[in-house]
Amino acid sequence: MTPSLIVHGGAWSIPPHEVEPHINGCRSAAQTGWEALIKGGSALDAVEAAVRVLEDDPTYDAGRGSVLNADGDIEMDAIIMDGATLNTGAVAAIQRVQHPVSAARLVMRHSEHNLLVGAGAESFARRMGVPVYPQVNLVTERELEKWRAAQAAPPDSARKEFSHDTVGAVARDADGHLAVATSTGGTFNKLPGRVGDSPLIGSGAYADDLSGAASATGWGESLMKIVICKTACDLMARGHDAQTAADAAIKQLGERVNGLGGIIIIDGRGGIGHAHNTPGMAYAKVLPDGQISAGC
Ligand code: GLY
Repeated sequence: MTPSLIVHGGAWSIPPHEVEPHINGCRSAAQTGWEALIKGGSALDAVEAAVRVLEDDPTYDAGRGSVLNADGDIEMDAIIMDGATLNTGAVAAIQRVQHPVSAARLVMRHSEHNLLVGAGAESFARRMGVPVYPQVNLVTERELEKWRAAQAAPPDSARKEFSHDTVGAVARDADGHLAVATSTGGTFNKLPGRVGDSPLIGSGAYADDLSGAASATGWGESLMKIVICKTACDLMARGHDAQTAADAAIKQLGERVNGLGGIIIIDGRGGIGHAHNTPGMAYAKVLPDGQISAGC
């Protein structure tokens, strides 16, 4: 079976000077995920590998480069889901782990839980051998400057403009199994303790071999209200292909809850879809001939 892969680097008003780094980073993540797949790796291996590349790239609001909350701290969320078993692992509000997606996978494999948060999640990750760094290692000068500027601005003036940069990957492997991973620093200037859609099963991600798999990006408070990834998978379970499900889910996001965001999808036949109602969404997908097509 030919594998399929798509990644995204967030749906938001990507400023013109940031378009190229966003596209290049997605291309690089897609290449890494694709190499995992063609070497015989599982869809889970591919989505974790692809998202780690995006978490390492300070261009994106995930891992290093995550946005800061109202206290000037990083709080990151991530999820991974296996479409073969519906097993899920997620972490939320973690501050000192460079690859939240890998911590999420450890939760899935080595705990009896689906979601761990905050200090408990970091302590679990450390016990599993994940390096835990001082938070300062993940904070970029760009985000510090943005945070300082926001402290001097009227409340809420900058939040929606700079807050839609979540990353994600969806893959189908040679055995036909689906997987998804999503990772984010959340929304800029959020209240400490705020958790968005990304680590929530069905909202930030969903994967089921019997229907399809999806990863979402955008304003989490809206995405959660329509459980957007499960909504898209339910459409595919009823026979719709990936692109039709992506278009319908984003239409529902706008019409039902006035939400802004994007989604990437692979259906059970390996078809790829993506849609967004923000000015841009960085993505890269691997075409059937192995070439990577990327856009914003
Ligand atoms: N979609 C990411 C968030 O709202 O946290």
